[in-house]
Amino acid sequence: MYDILTLNKIAACGTDIFDKAAYTVSDNAADPTAIMVRSAKMHDMQFGENLLAIARAGAGVNNIPVDRCAEEGIVVFNTPGANSNAVKELAICALLLASRKITEAAAWAASLKGTPDAPKTVEGGKSKFAGPEIYGKTLGIIGLGAIGGKIANAAVALGMKVIGYDPYLSVNAALHLDPAVTITTDINDIYKASDYISIHVPYTPDTKNTIDAEQIAMMKDGVRLINLARGELINSAAVIKAIGEGKVAKYVTDFADDVVLGEENVIVLPHLGASTPESEDNCAVMAAHELIDYIEKGTIRNSVNYPNAELAKTGDELVCIMHRNVPELIAKITGVCASTGANIENLVNKSKKEYAYTMLDITGKVDAAAIEAIDGVIKVRIL
Ligand SMILES: NC(=O)c1ccc[n+]([C@@H]2O[C@H](COP(=O)([O-])OP(=O)(O)OC[C@H]3O[C@@H](n4cnc5c(N)ncnc54)[C@H](O)[C@@H]3O)[C@@H](O)[C@H]2O)c1
Repeated sequence: MYDILTLNKIAACGTDIFDKAAYTVSDNAADPTAIMVRSAKMHDMQFGENLLAIARAGAGVNNIPVDRCAEEGIVVFNTPGANSNAVKELAICALLLASRKITEAAAWAASLKGTPDAPKTVEGGKSKFAGPEIYGKTLGIIGLGAIGGKIANAAVALGMKVIGYDPYLSVNAALHLDPAVTITTDINDIYKASDYISIHVPYTPDTKNTIDAEQIAMMKDGVRLINLARGELINSAAVIKAIGEGKVAKYVTDFADDVVLGEENVIVLPHLGASTPESEDNCAVMAAHELIDYIEKGTIRNSVNYPNAELAKTGDELVCIMHRNVPELIAKITGVCASTGANIENLVNKSKKEYAYTMLDITGKVDAAAIEAIDGVIKVRIL
Protein backbone atom coordinates (compact mmCIF):
# COMPACT_ATOMS: atom_id res chain seq x y z
CA MET A 1 0.00 0.00 0.00
CA TYR A 2 1.22 3.50 -0.82
CA ASP A 3 0.28 6.20 1.69
CA ILE A 4 -0.36 9.73 0.44
CA LEU A 5 -0.25 12.48 3.07
CA THR A 6 -2.19 15.67 2.34
CA LEU A 7 -0.89 18.73 4.19
CA ASN A 8 -3.65 21.02 2.88
CA LYS A 9 -7.13 20.44 1.59
CA ILE A 10 -6.67 18.95 -1.88
CA ALA A 11 -9.65 18.89 -4.28
CA ALA A 12 -11.41 15.53 -4.22
CA CYS A 13 -11.25 15.18 -8.01
CA GLY A 14 -7.47 14.82 -7.50
CA THR A 15 -7.38 12.58 -4.44
CA ASP A 16 -10.08 10.33 -5.96
CA ILE A 17 -7.69 9.43 -8.80
CA PHE A 18 -5.63 7.23 -6.44
CA ASP A 19 -6.76 3.61 -6.72
CA LYS A 20 -8.14 2.69 -3.29
CA ALA A 21 -6.81 -0.85 -3.68
CA ALA A 22 -3.23 0.45 -3.81
CA TYR A 23 -3.26 3.82 -2.04
CA THR A 24 -4.47 5.46 1.13
CA VAL A 25 -4.95 9.22 1.12
CA SER A 26 -5.15 10.97 4.48
CA ASP A 27 -4.01 14.01 6.41
CA ASN A 28 -2.34 11.87 9.09
CA ALA A 29 -0.13 9.29 7.33
CA ALA A 30 2.85 8.79 9.66
CA ASP A 31 5.34 7.45 7.09
CA PRO A 32 4.01 8.59 3.72
CA THR A 33 5.13 7.47 0.26
CA ALA A 34 4.27 10.90 -1.07
CA ILE A 35 2.94 14.25 0.12
CA MET A 36 0.43 16.54 -1.56
CA VAL A 37 0.67 20.15 -0.46
CA ARG A 38 -0.59 23.57 -1.38
CA SER A 39 0.78 26.37 0.80
CA ALA A 40 1.77 24.55 4.04
CA LYS A 41 5.31 25.48 5.10
CA MET A 42 7.54 22.40 4.92
CA HIS A 43 11.00 23.82 5.60
CA ASP A 44 11.09 22.54 9.19
CA MET A 45 9.69 19.08 8.40
CA GLN A 46 11.83 15.98 8.64
CA PHE A 47 11.15 13.41 5.92
CA GLY A 48 11.00 9.65 6.37
CA GLU A 49 13.10 7.13 4.42
CA ASN A 50 10.05 6.00 2.48
CA LEU A 51 9.10 9.41 1.15
CA LEU A 52 9.51 9.32 -2.63
CA ALA A 53 7.94 12.56 -3.74
CA ILE A 54 6.19 15.80 -2.84
CA ALA A 55 3.63 17.27 -5.21
CA ARG A 56 2.79 20.93 -4.85
CA ALA A 57 -0.72 21.53 -6.21
CA GLY A 58 0.24 24.93 -7.60
CA ALA A 59 3.20 26.64 -9.21
CA GLY A 60 5.39 28.27 -6.52
CA VAL A 61 7.51 25.87 -4.45
CA ASN A 62 9.09 28.29 -1.99
CA ASN A 63 7.24 26.57 0.89
CA ILE A 64 9.19 23.35 0.17
CA PRO A 65 12.89 22.69 0.92
CA VAL A 66 13.56 21.77 -2.71
CA ASP A 67 17.35 21.40 -2.45
CA ARG A 68 17.21 19.31 0.72
CA CYS A 69 14.66 17.08 -1.00
CA ALA A 70 16.99 16.60 -3.98
CA GLU A 71 19.77 15.69 -1.56
CA GLU A 72 17.48 13.09 0.08
CA GLY A 73 16.31 11.68 -3.28
CA ILE A 74 12.80 13.12 -2.93
CA VAL A 75 11.33 14.41 -6.19
CA VAL A 76 9.44 17.69 -5.87
CA PHE A 77 6.73 18.25 -8.45
CA ASN A 78 4.61 21.29 -9.17
CA THR A 79 1.68 21.77 -11.50
CA PRO A 80 2.81 24.41 -13.98
CA GLY A 81 0.04 26.09 -15.89
CA ALA A 82 -2.79 24.36 -14.01
CA ASN A 83 -3.78 27.58 -12.26
CA SER A 84 -2.61 29.99 -14.94
CA ASN A 85 -6.05 30.89 -16.24
CA ALA A 86 -7.24 31.75 -12.74
CA VAL A 87 -4.28 34.07 -12.17
CA LYS A 88 -4.65 35.56 -15.68
CA GLU A 89 -8.25 36.48 -14.94
CA LEU A 90 -7.30 38.08 -11.61
CA ALA A 91 -4.51 40.00 -13.35
CA ILE A 92 -6.98 41.45 -15.86
CA CYS A 93 -9.18 42.38 -12.90
CA ALA A 94 -6.12 43.94 -11.21
CA LEU A 95 -5.38 46.06 -14.28
CA LEU A 96 -8.89 47.49 -14.05
CA LEU A 97 -8.76 47.85 -10.26
CA ALA A 98 -5.49 49.74 -10.67
CA SER A 99 -7.16 52.12 -13.12
CA ARG A 100 -10.72 52.86 -12.17
CA LYS A 101 -10.83 53.39 -8.35
CA ILE A 102 -13.41 50.63 -8.29
CA THR A 103 -12.84 49.52 -4.69
CA GLU A 104 -12.99 53.08 -3.30
CA ALA A 105 -16.04 53.91 -5.41
CA ALA A 106 -17.92 50.79 -4.33
CA ALA A 107 -17.10 51.46 -0.67
CA TRP A 108 -18.35 55.04 -1.02
CA ALA A 109 -21.55 53.92 -2.73
CA ALA A 110 -22.17 51.37 0.03
CA SER A 111 -21.67 54.09 2.65
CA LEU A 112 -24.65 55.98 1.20
CA LYS A 113 -27.14 53.36 2.36
CA GLY A 114 -29.89 55.02 4.33
CA THR A 115 -28.98 58.54 3.18
CA PRO A 116 -31.68 60.58 1.47
CA ASP A 117 -31.60 60.59 -2.34
CA ALA A 118 -28.61 58.29 -2.88
CA PRO A 119 -29.15 58.20 -6.69
CA LYS A 120 -28.63 61.99 -6.82
CA THR A 121 -25.65 61.86 -4.45
CA VAL A 122 -23.81 59.29 -6.58
CA GLU A 123 -24.25 61.37 -9.72
CA GLY A 124 -22.84 64.38 -7.90
CA GLY A 125 -19.95 62.54 -6.27
CA LYS A 126 -18.80 60.04 -8.87
CA SER A 127 -16.29 62.28 -10.65
CA LYS A 128 -13.67 61.79 -7.92
CA PHE A 129 -13.53 58.11 -8.84
CA ALA A 130 -12.73 58.60 -12.54
CA GLY A 131 -9.73 56.65 -13.81
CA PRO A 132 -8.07 55.89 -17.15
CA GLU A 133 -8.89 53.09 -19.59
CA ILE A 134 -6.33 50.37 -20.21
CA TYR A 135 -6.98 50.38 -23.98
CA GLY A 136 -3.96 51.74 -25.85
CA LYS A 137 -1.77 51.77 -22.72
CA THR A 138 1.48 49.85 -22.36
CA LEU A 139 1.63 46.81 -20.10
CA GLY A 140 5.09 45.56 -19.17
CA ILE A 141 5.23 41.91 -18.11
CA ILE A 142 8.21 40.45 -16.28
CA GLY A 143 8.13 36.66 -16.76
CA LEU A 144 6.30 35.21 -19.77
CA GLY A 145 5.66 31.69 -18.50
CA ALA A 146 2.28 30.01 -18.12
CA ILE A 147 0.70 33.00 -16.38
CA GLY A 148 2.60 35.94 -17.87
CA GLY A 149 2.11 34.60 -21.40
CA LYS A 150 -1.66 34.26 -20.97
CA ILE A 151 -1.88 37.78 -19.53
CA ALA A 152 0.16 39.14 -22.43
CA ASN A 153 -2.23 37.63 -24.97
CA ALA A 154 -5.33 38.75 -23.08
CA ALA A 155 -3.98 42.28 -22.75
CA VAL A 156 -3.28 42.42 -26.50
CA ALA A 157 -6.88 41.32 -27.09
CA LEU A 158 -8.01 44.20 -24.84
CA GLY A 159 -6.12 46.66 -27.01
CA MET A 160 -3.03 47.15 -24.85
CA LYS A 161 0.51 47.40 -26.12
CA VAL A 162 2.44 44.62 -24.41
CA ILE A 163 6.16 44.44 -23.80
CA GLY A 164 7.60 41.38 -22.10
CA TYR A 165 10.89 40.39 -20.50
CA ASP A 166 11.91 36.80 -19.83
CA PRO A 167 15.56 35.78 -20.31
CA TYR A 168 14.66 32.09 -19.88
CA LEU A 169 11.60 32.06 -22.14
CA SER A 170 10.86 28.48 -23.22
CA VAL A 171 10.27 27.67 -26.88
CA ASN A 172 6.81 26.42 -26.00
CA ALA A 173 5.93 29.64 -24.16
CA ALA A 174 7.29 31.73 -27.02
CA LEU A 175 5.21 29.77 -29.56
CA HIS A 176 2.04 30.56 -27.61
CA LEU A 177 2.66 34.32 -27.46
CA ASP A 178 0.60 36.68 -29.59
CA PRO A 179 2.94 38.10 -32.28
CA ALA A 180 1.88 41.60 -31.16
CA VAL A 181 3.80 41.10 -27.88
CA THR A 182 7.16 42.88 -28.03
CA ILE A 183 9.99 41.02 -26.32
CA THR A 184 12.87 42.94 -24.82
CA THR A 185 16.15 41.58 -23.55
CA ASP A 186 16.64 44.58 -21.27
CA ILE A 187 14.39 44.64 -18.21
CA ASN A 188 14.91 48.40 -17.94
CA ASP A 189 12.85 48.79 -21.15
CA ILE A 190 9.89 47.49 -19.17
CA TYR A 191 10.43 50.04 -16.42
CA LYS A 192 10.86 52.96 -18.82
CA ALA A 193 8.04 52.22 -21.27
CA SER A 194 5.17 50.83 -19.21
CA ASP A 195 2.01 52.42 -17.82
CA TYR A 196 1.29 49.15 -16.01
CA ILE A 197 3.83 46.57 -14.83
CA SER A 198 2.90 43.05 -13.81
CA ILE A 199 5.45 40.56 -12.50
CA HIS A 200 5.11 36.77 -12.96
CA VAL A 201 8.43 35.16 -12.04
CA PRO A 202 9.16 32.58 -9.33
CA TYR A 203 10.49 33.91 -6.04
CA THR A 204 14.12 32.84 -5.55
CA PRO A 205 17.08 34.54 -3.84
CA ASP A 206 17.88 36.00 -7.31
CA THR A 207 14.44 37.51 -7.87
CA LYS A 208 13.97 38.96 -4.37
CA ASN A 209 13.16 42.68 -4.63
CA THR A 210 13.27 42.60 -8.44
CA ILE A 211 11.37 45.87 -8.17
CA ASP A 212 12.96 48.18 -5.62
CA ALA A 213 13.50 51.94 -5.30
CA GLU A 214 16.13 51.93 -8.07
CA GLN A 215 13.76 50.28 -10.56
CA ILE A 216 10.81 52.46 -9.54
CA ALA A 217 12.93 55.56 -10.17
CA MET A 218 13.22 54.51 -13.85
CA MET A 219 9.45 54.16 -14.26
CA LYS A 220 6.95 56.60 -15.74
CA ASP A 221 5.24 58.92 -13.28
CA GLY A 222 1.86 57.46 -12.36
CA VAL A 223 2.86 53.87 -13.14
CA ARG A 224 0.53 51.17 -11.80
CA LEU A 225 2.10 48.01 -10.37
CA ILE A 226 0.59 44.56 -10.10
CA ASN A 227 2.06 41.72 -8.08
CA LEU A 228 0.20 38.45 -8.16
CA ALA A 229 3.40 36.36 -8.06
CA ARG A 230 5.05 36.64 -4.62
CA GLY A 231 5.26 39.48 -2.10
CA GLU A 232 9.05 39.28 -1.85
CA LEU A 233 9.48 40.19 -5.55
CA ILE A 234 8.60 43.82 -4.91
CA ASN A 235 9.96 45.87 -2.02
CA SER A 236 6.79 46.97 -0.22
CA ALA A 237 8.46 49.88 1.60
CA ALA A 238 9.87 51.28 -1.66
CA VAL A 239 6.42 51.11 -3.29
CA ILE A 240 4.69 52.84 -0.37
CA LYS A 241 7.31 55.60 -0.44
CA ALA A 242 6.83 56.01 -4.22
CA ILE A 243 3.05 56.16 -3.78
CA GLY A 244 3.53 58.93 -1.20
CA GLU A 245 5.67 60.84 -3.69
CA GLY A 246 3.09 60.39 -6.48
CA LYS A 247 5.48 58.28 -8.58
CA VAL A 248 3.38 55.12 -8.33
CA ALA A 249 -0.36 55.68 -8.79
CA LYS A 250 -1.58 52.30 -7.58
CA TYR A 251 -0.26 48.98 -6.30
CA VAL A 252 -2.39 45.86 -6.52
CA THR A 253 -0.86 42.95 -4.66
CA ASP A 254 -2.02 39.46 -3.77
CA PHE A 255 0.34 39.43 -0.77
CA ALA A 256 -0.49 41.01 2.54
CA ASP A 257 2.23 42.43 4.75
CA ASP A 258 2.13 45.06 7.46
CA VAL A 259 3.76 47.63 5.21
CA VAL A 260 1.12 47.54 2.46
CA LEU A 261 -2.04 46.80 4.47
CA GLY A 262 -4.36 49.77 4.95
CA GLU A 263 -2.26 52.10 2.78
CA GLU A 264 -3.90 54.54 0.40
CA ASN A 265 -3.72 53.55 -3.28
CA VAL A 266 -2.80 49.99 -2.39
CA ILE A 267 -5.24 47.17 -2.98
CA VAL A 268 -4.24 44.07 -1.05
CA LEU A 269 -5.94 40.83 -2.00
CA PRO A 270 -5.70 37.80 0.32
CA HIS A 271 -3.69 35.52 -2.01
CA LEU A 272 -6.67 34.91 -4.29
CA GLY A 273 -4.73 34.26 -7.52
CA ALA A 274 -5.40 30.55 -7.82
CA SER A 275 -8.54 30.49 -5.69
CA THR A 276 -11.04 29.26 -8.22
CA PRO A 277 -12.66 25.84 -8.09
CA GLU A 278 -11.42 25.19 -11.62
CA SER A 279 -7.80 25.90 -10.75
CA GLU A 280 -7.86 23.89 -7.52
CA ASP A 281 -9.31 20.96 -9.47
CA ASN A 282 -6.75 21.28 -12.29
CA CYS A 283 -3.84 21.42 -9.83
CA ALA A 284 -5.07 18.48 -7.75
CA VAL A 285 -5.62 16.28 -10.82
CA MET A 286 -2.23 17.13 -12.30
CA ALA A 287 -0.45 16.58 -8.96
CA ALA A 288 -2.13 13.19 -8.47
CA HIS A 289 -1.13 12.00 -11.96
CA GLU A 290 2.45 13.17 -11.41
CA LEU A 291 2.70 11.15 -8.18
CA ILE A 292 1.08 8.02 -9.60
CA ASP A 293 3.31 8.08 -12.70
CA TYR A 294 6.37 8.47 -10.54
CA ILE A 295 5.46 5.91 -7.88
CA GLU A 296 4.33 3.25 -10.33
CA LYS A 297 6.46 3.89 -13.42
CA GLY A 298 9.37 6.05 -12.24
CA THR A 299 8.29 8.74 -14.70
CA ILE A 300 9.31 12.25 -13.73
CA ARG A 301 7.25 15.02 -15.26
CA ASN A 302 7.18 18.64 -13.99
CA SER A 303 9.78 18.21 -11.28
CA VAL A 304 11.58 21.28 -9.98
CA ASN A 305 14.59 19.43 -8.54
CA TYR A 306 15.09 16.38 -10.79
CA PRO A 307 15.04 16.15 -14.59
CA ASN A 308 12.03 14.98 -16.51
CA ALA A 309 12.48 11.39 -17.70
CA GLU A 310 10.47 8.35 -18.65
CA LEU A 311 11.23 4.87 -19.88
CA ALA A 312 8.90 1.96 -20.56
CA LYS A 313 9.60 -1.32 -18.78
CA THR A 314 10.02 -4.05 -21.39
CA GLY A 315 12.37 -6.34 -19.46
CA ASP A 316 12.36 -7.83 -15.96
CA GLU A 317 13.22 -4.73 -13.96
CA LEU A 318 13.04 -0.98 -14.33
CA VAL A 319 15.90 0.41 -12.27
CA CYS A 320 15.44 4.08 -11.29
CA ILE A 321 18.54 5.76 -9.92
CA MET A 322 18.76 9.26 -8.49
CA HIS A 323 22.31 10.47 -8.34
CA ARG A 324 24.66 13.39 -8.52
CA ASN A 325 25.47 14.77 -11.95
CA VAL A 326 29.15 13.75 -11.95
CA PRO A 327 31.48 12.04 -14.44
CA GLU A 328 31.93 8.24 -14.68
CA LEU A 329 28.88 7.41 -12.62
CA ILE A 330 27.00 5.80 -15.51
CA ALA A 331 30.01 3.58 -16.25
CA LYS A 332 30.07 2.42 -12.62
CA ILE A 333 26.31 1.70 -12.68
CA THR A 334 26.51 -0.30 -15.92
CA GLY A 335 29.51 -2.12 -14.45
CA VAL A 336 27.36 -3.28 -11.52
CA CYS A 337 24.69 -4.44 -13.98
CA ALA A 338 27.28 -6.45 -15.91
CA SER A 339 28.51 -8.09 -12.70
CA THR A 340 25.20 -9.94 -12.31
CA GLY A 341 24.82 -10.62 -16.03
CA ALA A 342 21.93 -8.16 -16.33
CA ASN A 343 21.39 -6.84 -19.84
CA ILE A 344 20.44 -3.18 -20.31
CA GLU A 345 17.73 -3.14 -22.98
CA ASN A 346 17.15 0.61 -22.83
CA LEU A 347 18.65 3.45 -20.86
CA VAL A 348 17.68 7.04 -20.15
CA ASN A 349 19.96 9.46 -18.36
CA LYS A 350 18.91 13.04 -17.71
CA SER A 351 20.41 15.75 -15.59
CA LYS A 352 19.21 18.95 -13.95
CA LYS A 353 21.94 21.13 -12.48
CA GLU A 354 23.76 19.06 -9.81
CA TYR A 355 21.36 16.12 -9.89
CA ALA A 356 20.61 13.40 -12.43
CA TYR A 357 18.20 10.53 -12.94
CA THR A 358 19.00 7.32 -14.73
CA MET A 359 16.44 4.70 -15.72
CA LEU A 360 17.55 1.25 -16.86
CA ASP A 361 15.23 -1.24 -18.54
CA ILE A 362 16.83 -4.52 -17.55
CA THR A 363 16.60 -8.16 -18.57
CA GLY A 364 17.82 -10.21 -15.64
CA LYS A 365 18.43 -8.82 -12.16
CA VAL A 366 20.61 -6.06 -10.75
CA ASP A 367 22.23 -5.75 -7.36
CA ALA A 368 20.43 -2.63 -6.06
CA ALA A 369 22.55 -2.45 -2.91
CA ALA A 370 25.75 -2.42 -4.99
CA ILE A 371 24.41 0.46 -7.11
CA GLU A 372 23.35 2.36 -3.99
CA ALA A 373 26.88 1.92 -2.60
CA ILE A 374 28.41 3.80 -5.55
CA ASP A 375 29.68 7.20 -4.48
CA GLY A 376 27.28 9.84 -5.81
CA VAL A 377 24.21 7.60 -5.93
CA ILE A 378 21.40 8.97 -3.78
CA LYS A 379 18.54 6.52 -4.15
CA VAL A 380 17.74 3.37 -6.13
CA ARG A 381 14.30 1.96 -6.82
CA ILE A 382 13.51 -1.23 -8.67
CA LEU A 383 10.10 -1.36 -10.33
N1 LIG B 1 -1.17 34.58 -6.59
C1 LIG B 1 -1.26 33.29 -6.71
O1 LIG B 1 -2.11 32.66 -6.12
C2 LIG B 1 -0.32 32.58 -7.64
C3 LIG B 1 -0.79 31.45 -8.30
C4 LIG B 1 0.07 30.80 -9.19
C5 LIG B 1 1.37 31.24 -9.34
N2 LIG B 1 1.79 32.32 -8.64
C6 LIG B 1 3.18 32.78 -8.79
O2 LIG B 1 3.40 33.10 -10.16
C7 LIG B 1 4.70 32.65 -10.52
C8 LIG B 1 4.71 32.37 -12.01
O3 LIG B 1 3.86 31.27 -12.28
P1 LIG B 1 3.83 30.57 -13.72
O4 LIG B 1 2.83 29.46 -13.62
O5 LIG B 1 3.70 31.58 -14.78
O6 LIG B 1 5.29 29.94 -13.74
P2 LIG B 1 6.17 29.56 -15.02
O7 LIG B 1 7.29 28.75 -14.51
O8 LIG B 1 5.30 29.01 -16.09
O9 LIG B 1 6.71 30.97 -15.54
C9 LIG B 1 7.68 31.72 -14.87
C10 LIG B 1 8.45 32.46 -15.94
O10 LIG B 1 9.35 33.35 -15.29
C11 LIG B 1 10.55 33.37 -16.04
N3 LIG B 1 11.62 33.89 -15.22
C12 LIG B 1 12.33 33.25 -14.26
N4 LIG B 1 13.22 34.11 -13.71
C13 LIG B 1 13.05 35.29 -14.36
C14 LIG B 1 13.67 36.55 -14.24
N5 LIG B 1 14.64 36.78 -13.35
N6 LIG B 1 13.24 37.56 -15.04
C15 LIG B 1 12.26 37.35 -15.95
N7 LIG B 1 11.64 36.16 -16.12
C16 LIG B 1 12.03 35.15 -15.32
C17 LIG B 1 10.74 31.93 -16.49
O11 LIG B 1 11.58 31.84 -17.61
C18 LIG B 1 9.29 31.51 -16.81
O12 LIG B 1 9.00 31.73 -18.19
C19 LIG B 1 4.91 31.42 -9.65
O13 LIG B 1 6.29 31.18 -9.42
C20 LIG B 1 4.19 31.73 -8.37
O14 LIG B 1 5.08 32.29 -7.44
C21 LIG B 1 0.98 33.00 -7.80
